[in-house]
Amino acid sequence: MVDVLLGLQWGDEGKGKIVDYFAPNYDIIARFQGGPNAGHTLYVNGNKIVLHQIPSGIFHEDKINLIGNGVVLDAVTLRRECEAVKSFGIDYRKNLYISERTHLIIPTHRALDKASELAKGNEKIGSTLKGIGPAYMDKTGRNGLRVGDLLDKNFTTQYIKLRLKHQRLLDSMNFNEDITAWEEEFFEGIEFMRQFKIVNGEYFINDKIKQGMKVLAEGAQGSMLDVDFGTFPFVTSSNTISAGVCTGLGVAPQKIRDVIGVTKAYCTRVGSGPFPTELNDSTGEELRKIGNEFGATTGRPRRCGWIDLVALNYACMINGVTKIVMTKADVLDTFEDLKVCTSYTINGESSKEIPFQMMRVAIVPELQGFTGWKTDISGIKSAKDLPEAAQKYITFIDQYLGVKISWISNGPGRDQLIEII
Ligand code: GDP
Ligand code: IMO
Ligand code: MG
Repeated sequence: MVDVLLGLQWGDEGKGKIVDYFAPNYDIIARFQGGPNAGHTLYVNGNKIVLHQIPSGIFHEDKINLIGNGVVLDAVTLRRECEAVKSFGIDYRKNLYISERTHLIIPTHRALDKASELAKGNEKIGSTLKGIGPAYMDKTGRNGLRVGDLLDKNFTTQYIKLRLKHQRLLDSMNFNEDITAWEEEFFEGIEFMRQFKIVNGEYFINDKIKQGMKVLAEGAQGSMLDVDFGTFPFVTSSNTISAGVCTGLGVAPQKIRDVIGVTKAYCTRVGSGPFPTELNDSTGEELRKIGNEFGATTGRPRRCGWIDLVALNYACMINGVTKIVMTKADVLDTFEDLKVCTSYTINGESSKEIPFQMMRVAIVPELQGFTGWKTDISGIKSAKDLPEAAQKYITFIDQYLGVKISWISNGPGRDQLIEII
């Protein structure tokens, strides 16, 4: 059986920490989409590490970590990540597996990402510029190179063919970038990748499931960044939702059991695009400061605002969320008053639905006020010790969503997670 853990907002909900926490309950931790645009922060023995492509189960040495076919993989980033993991005393070669169907990001994908953003001018997506969009375009356009191609003697020829195709595109966009240094690193990364266990991911995972092993599928980005259901075009280029697990790992829908959704106690977004509950004031700044809301991949300041139940409700519906983890509740500790968005007013009418085009309509969030708990909750271990005001806030949200908030995260540390029974 497979459980899924994914983000319900616009990413950075704290998925990495929660996967690391739950990993002991599983045999395999598998990434099914996204690539180095992700930044999943973990604290291991009090030391911080940010993972981009390696599943967040890597610090549990008896667990299998699989990079699935739905991922787009950057060999250069992978090598750097592996070195960082190694500095924690972990032998990553032992338990890291890569699907042969995983698509590769090549240096010109990154150049194309830059060229595409530049061409968009004011309408830029705010991409992480890691080559994600162009790599997925080559997948659906049936041009991409895959990890399994590494083992083919014609790999370099195939690479040159693809690079030339990209070069023509870049030329037509009048975009010039010297990729010589990237290319050198890329081929070093490709050589480095040869040491890994490159597997037929779909047979690999289904065989293990048949043997009774448990899989935790780790999502990247968030549901509102999903290419189909997110705030298009301000989204990433993959299916970040639970359905992506089937195509991104090769498992059938009947194998999926729990869908664990992660949300912050408030909301953030990095990059451009609609964000109805955004706070462009001192409260937003306070959330950013206390929550240390700066991108784990790009270092950009994250936009901050109140929790948006219209968007969360939508994410629960699309994903079939069965359990919720609420992270960063401690960030709200000092706030006098809190707000929760319960509906949108669009053209004078109240709605609890996500509109087709969130940029073309003026959305006014309808906010319900809550009294802050004004207590340091970061040391609390048991749900019954949570202040009454915090309990009220949590209960209101889970009743609105109709899905139970089963865990509250009250700090970045591995042990800061309270189970609500
Ligand atoms: P991910 O991409 O979903 O894995 O999330 P990121 O790692 O990008 O961002 C989450 C940030 O919040 C990281 O810096 C975490 O260390 C931190 N974090 C996670 N959970 C908590 C929490 O409950 N409280 C606080 N204060 N920080 C947290
Ligand atoms: P994790 O897994 C937050 C955002 C970018 C940009 C848009 C498209 O750490 O939650 P892309 O590089 O995919 O072309 O960027 O998506 N984005 C993320 N925002 N967390 C992420 O990952 C993100 N990955 C991409 O900022 O707005
Ligand atoms: Mg992140």
